[in-house]
Amino acid sequence: MASELFDKFRFSQGAASRPTPSPLGGDASSAPAPQQASSSGTPSQPSTQGSDANASSSPGSAPSMFDKSQFGQIFIPPSLLTSDLNSNAPKMDEATFKKFRDFVYEQCGISFTENKKYLLEGRIAKRLEAHNLTSFDEYFRLISSSASARDELPSLFEVVTINETYFFRNPPQFEALEQVILPEILKAKQALPSGAKKLRIWSAASSSGEEAYTMSMLILERIKPQFPGFQFEIVASDINTAVLEKARTGVYKEYSVRNMPQHYLNKYFTQEGDKYILSPEVRNQVKFMCVNLYDTPTMRSMTSFDVIFCCNVLIYFDTQAKQQVVANLYDALNKGGYLFIGYSESLHGVSKAFKLVHFPKTIAYKKE
Ligand SMILES: C[S@@+](CC[C@H](N)C(=O)[O-])C[C@H]1O[C@@H](n2cnc3c(N)ncnc32)[C@H](O)[C@@H]1O
Repeated sequence: MASELFDKFRFSQGAASRPTPSPLGGDASSAPAPQQASSSGTPSQPSTQGSDANASSSPGSAPSMFDKSQFGQIFIPPSLLTSDLNSNAPKMDEATFKKFRDFVYEQCGISFTENKKYLLEGRIAKRLEAHNLTSFDEYFRLISSSASARDELPSLFEVVTINETYFFRNPPQFEALEQVILPEILKAKQALPSGAKKLRIWSAASSSGEEAYTMSMLILERIKPQFPGFQFEIVASDINTAVLEKARTGVYKEYSVRNMPQHYLNKYFTQEGDKYILSPEVRNQVKFMCVNLYDTPTMRSMTSFDVIFCCNVLIYFDTQAKQQVVANLYDALNKGGYLFIGYSESLHGVSKAFKLVHFPKTIAYKKE
């Protein structure tokens, strides 16, 4: 089934529809080597998608939904507005940096390399300020004492994570999901004599919910009419409780909806001033919960998913953490289920358990 809506924005995938890369560490969308896989499953460089060479449209190319000149002027990624480069912030010595780096890694798998010291320093300095503390050592005592850690860890996770996201972030993934993967899985379920007529999707590392709600809209718009007897459940999780709170409200600003096809914006949102308010039917299909991807006991409780999106988070982990997280995601999938990771990410050297499946301009990992 051809999707006109996807055709419309398939071509706006280059720099024009991407957020301005953040010089502060950004997220996967600002990484320099976008992922595509060769037929051998080894990542290789795509010729055009997502590259800077794609920033201006060539004569004869399909019209973009957006006027590129607007992007740098109107949309400033929230990550650029944070004050990581505050020159008045206290400085960490090497030993203190290593202590915090190891602590953060052990807690959530996020790996701050030596060249990201200024980021960790700037972000943790915000917590010192919040507690009126004057030294990093005092804050370290706070987070490593079990009594106070329980209260403080969510705030630490809040400052060390990067939450960049937006609706319809990687259209080829949603196109593959809607046109091939969901129909394939649903038809297989239909063919089972006593199969449960339920499909479960997990947006792992959902940030403020745009990815999960994009899938919810696609299901309402494209899938439910074809498979009316099915129940659809989308679980969206993150380690950052503040973004989960925001997700639950379903209220967004223009920054989040900038890549949204107009039809979806008109149909599933109401606008009040500068706010875009998501309709209850889209919100009701999504359940939010706090899950630390690096916490194996919690991960083992996440089971029976048909599709998992774990996008633009593996990039913050080192190989060992990626291997642990991906092994748990594999276990969380049903047989025949699919895993999507971010456009700039790869499972090369991380897992051989999946079968690589190619779709137009994207790939997915299938559990056979
Ligand atoms: C860049 S956002 C990606 C959002 C969305 N998946 C997308 O691709 O647009 C990365 C998210 O991963 C979350 N994250 C980082 N480490 C995590 C962990 N150990 N467990 C769960 N979520 C984590 C962050 O809080 C952040 O919201």
